[in-house]
Amino acid sequence: MTYGDYSIKDGHLYISGVDCVYLAQKYSTPLYVMSEDVVRANCREFKGALEKYYDSCGLITYASKAFCTKEMCRIVNSEGLGLDAVSGGELYTAREAGFPMEKINYHGNNKTDEEIKMGVDFGVGRFIADNETELEKIDRYARESGRVQKVLIRVTPGVDAHTHDFIKTGQIDSKFGMAIETGAADRITDFALTLKNIELSGLHCHIGSQIFEKEPFVETARVMLDYINAVEERTGIEFEDLVLGGGFGIKYVEGDDPFSYDEMLKEVLTYVKKRREDEGKKLLHLGFEPGRAIAGPAGVTLYTVGNVKEIPDIRTYVSVDGGMTDNPRYILYGADYTFIVANRADECADKPCTVCGKCCESGDMLGENVMLSGNVKSGDILAVTSTGAYNFSMASNYNRVPRPPVVFVKDGQDFLAVRRETLADLCERDI
Ligand SMILES: Cc1ncc(COP(=O)(O)O)c(C=O)c1O
Repeated sequence: MTYGDYSIKDGHLYISGVDCVYLAQKYSTPLYVMSEDVVRANCREFKGALEKYYDSCGLITYASKAFCTKEMCRIVNSEGLGLDAVSGGELYTAREAGFPMEKINYHGNNKTDEEIKMGVDFGVGRFIADNETELEKIDRYARESGRVQKVLIRVTPGVDAHTHDFIKTGQIDSKFGMAIETGAADRITDFALTLKNIELSGLHCHIGSQIFEKEPFVETARVMLDYINAVEERTGIEFEDLVLGGGFGIKYVEGDDPFSYDEMLKEVLTYVKKRREDEGKKLLHLGFEPGRAIAGPAGVTLYTVGNVKEIPDIRTYVSVDGGMTDNPRYILYGADYTFIVANRADECADKPCTVCGKCCESGDMLGENVMLSGNVKSGDILAVTSTGAYNFSMASNYNRVPRPPVVFVKDGQDFLAVRRETLADLCERDI
């Protein structure tokens, strides 16, 4: 597992061999920097595990909600992964990047009619259907285009993942999927089997995000295999596909201790393989959907420090030229990050500070009580690490703040992948 690709030279922080201070000068700040080297290494770890422990019988689909740009789609495609898209926008981006549509899992708990039609017309490989209303529509649009659409049903396995409530999804009380426990999953499965333009090829589940324990993933596989057996016995069908979702935790701060993805996949894949063999059944085509684990550790956001405000005996505010508009995760879930003064990266971080943004919102913070160099001052370049997932993709224009550009770095080279939003862009849609 690759947590990042950092080094320090002459007091400056480097990512994949590129000086962060140079990047800040060249592209200005705030700036999202993504290490292509780290993205590729993480893709390879997941794909390699599927090859090693499961005869490559399956597909790793990168969950593009974590970070979706055309360049990211191209990189992931060149690594042989599939893609998980959750909206017409993600699907469109993938198609613009030339992503093979048959390697797409198309998600969403409330896809609009236009989005469903788009998925069918684009020829996505698998729809992940959330509910009966959606199934009916997929069937109708598939019939109108003279197709039979492959569909997996999203079920909630009832496995409790120990993570933040906002990113838990495996329990009965969820807006996603149909619960096994309540009989809702049986109901939707039976309904799918009545629809002529749907090929019900399997089941999908996803228990949550930023999970640090391996056990819930093995337990989920057990519950899903039990359920597959029960449905197959009851209906006489034979499933081909099982997707076990994403949710693999990453390291944001020193105390975070994520498992090795290779080891986790080894446990889950060995369990699934052995169990199917013991039951005399054919191997299921298995899917995993890592998002954060692939994009998160690859990203760093660079800011310029504006004012440093000391409130004696209370705290020191370090204001940066971005904030909740480019990273809303602190205000959403109190997410922790690691901060480094990139132009004095070798100095001891011994001063507790509150890093705040520039928005007109008291809660606009990136971190409280974070340790920075005691010499932090206006004009410094502040780097926040592990920002590759759910930062760019969750960015907003609150206060009419233009969104930052994305630069990729690879083996000492840098290139622009998404340009900075301009003030003119902000008025582009106004009439
Ligand atoms: C269905 C599904 N798959 C995969 C993911 C990716 O999760 P993560 O980025 O934690 O790997 C999500 C995240 O919300 C999801 O809802």
